Amino acid sequence: MASAPGQIFIFGEHAVVYGYPALATTIDIRTIVKAKPRDDYILKVFSKEIGKLEGIVENKNDNWIITDKSGDTLKLNYVVKAIESTLNYLDDGMGFDLEITSDIPPGSGLGSSSAVTTATISVLSKALNKVLSKEEISELSFTVEKSIQGTASRTGVSLAVQGGFAKIQEKDIVKLGKLCSLDIIIGYTGMYGSTTETVQRVKKLMKFKPTVINTILETIGSITENGINSMREKNFRRVGALMNANQNLLQGLDVSSDELNRLISASKKTGALGAKITGGGGGGSMIALGNSNLSGIAEAIKNNGGYPIVTEIGVEGLKLS
Ligand code: MEV
Repeated sequence: MASAPGQIFIFGEHAVVYGYPALATTIDIRTIVKAKPRDDYILKVFSKEIGKLEGIVENKNDNWIITDKSGDTLKLNYVVKAIESTLNYLDDGMGFDLEITSDIPPGSGLGSSSAVTTATISVLSKALNKVLSKEEISELSFTVEKSIQGTASRTGVSLAVQGGFAKIQEKDIVKLGKLCSLDIIIGYTGMYGSTTETVQRVKKLMKFKPTVINTILETIGSITENGINSMREKNFRRVGALMNANQNLLQGLDVSSDELNRLISASKKTGALGAKITGGGGGGSMIALGNSNLSGIAEAIKNNGGYPIVTEIGVEGLKLS
């Protein structure tokens, strides 16, 4: 059995795809994957939250693939790709029963795909008696995310594996320890946010208006740097103001949505020091930094059609047992 946490971006989503820094941290909502080897070559995946799938594990021309798939193939595309990548990396294959339990809603912007990908790779390698290092799991998961999303940063997979807080810039993943304790509340819109779609949207904007978009991304990068310093200094008002500035720039990238904007503005009216989307946007979730009134912000999120989630941040990464 392996489990991996979800995550939030405190600063820097989207800009991180273009080589600017981001600050992200894990949340105490996890995905658990259990694997039971079979003595045939059948794959059965079952998840109450995501869906189910059946297929055959085959080696064709020196390539391990899952053929004859039936069931929720789209919803479980990260899982199938993670299985194929692991079998090819280890050059070994067999049938499995996989059971996935996830408290991270898919498309919530809270890192569900990174959590399920890293946990699947980890548990399968153990089932094949070849335990992979954290670096290998991270890199393999990154190739899975890239092949599905088209473009991706290492943020999601690194955080899911390492846990804690990290500053991510290209291949540089700097673990930051516990910077300070933040009263963060998550507001999930309940709407599916497609990271693939919003990442493509930014890519198109970049083609159309490179100077403007580059300036926005660069400014987000310097907000991340300033935000990390403000967190170290425990200057929460400044952290909040920088989150608001980050959100304004994300709106300039057209990755927010009416539902997200409503939750963000309701949180600020109820005393949040700052609020912004987290993750890909276009649906999914926002985060707000509370002053001392998290229950008031939770109420405001609920009254505006969202689902408040209060959770610990900076929790442990991938666990294998
Ligand atoms: C999605 O969770 C965050 C983005 O920055 C994409 C990525 O980093 O891969 C939008």
